[in-house]
Amino acid sequence: MYEELETIKDKCHKCNKCALSKTRTNVVFSDGIANNKLMLVGEAPGYWEDQKGKPFVGKAGQLLDKIFNCVGLSREKDVYICNTIKCRPPENRNPLPEEKEACREFLDAQIEILKPKIILICGSVALNSLLPNEGGITKVRGKWFEGPYGAKMMPIFHPSYLLRNDSREKGSPKWLTWQDIKEIKRVYDEL
Ligand code: URA
Ligand code: URA
Repeated sequence: MYEELETIKDKCHKCNKCALSKTRTNVVFSDGIANNKLMLVGEAPGYWEDQKGKPFVGKAGQLLDKIFNCVGLSREKDVYICNTIKCRPPENRNPLPEEKEACREFLDAQIEILKPKIILICGSVALNSLLPNEGGITKVRGKWFEGPYGAKMMPIFHPSYLLRNDSREKGSPKWLTWQDIKEIKRVYDEL
């Protein structure tokens, strides 16, 4: 169904447009299921993602899976998962502007081919790429924004941030994310 995506993936796997191509173990293009409903865009591959060639497979990824599972969504059936850049920055530093720019065509192609109705913008790096002028993650998380091809986009906290903030009290990052995922599921069910 999404043959174009395979073509882009092949191109991405051979990409050497930025210096990360020299230090990567694997290109991390996507995981989950190609679909036109729900996409999540994270930051960049970390150690385990680089090792395995799949996004969100470390600790943050396990928490992300739990968050989706809480509302009956799963990466095997419902969600397409990718990152703003496809290769791991050394020591997991933030991606450099030139790395994001070199990699942007792949993210744009993923969005253009799938035309997802909902795009979850996961964490501040993805926010900076997709909604650079709306303010910080704490201000905009949980709000809907208009995205490309009529998508609804919602910024959410990054699971790594939730791992560093363990409280579940009302108003805490975890509690807020629980509100967000319920709202996301509500809109998803109306698609
Ligand atoms: N964090 C991300 O933003 N993406 C991954 O793929 C893994 C951790
Ligand atoms: N700060 C970040 O960098 N990411 C989040 O998701 C929240 C706070």
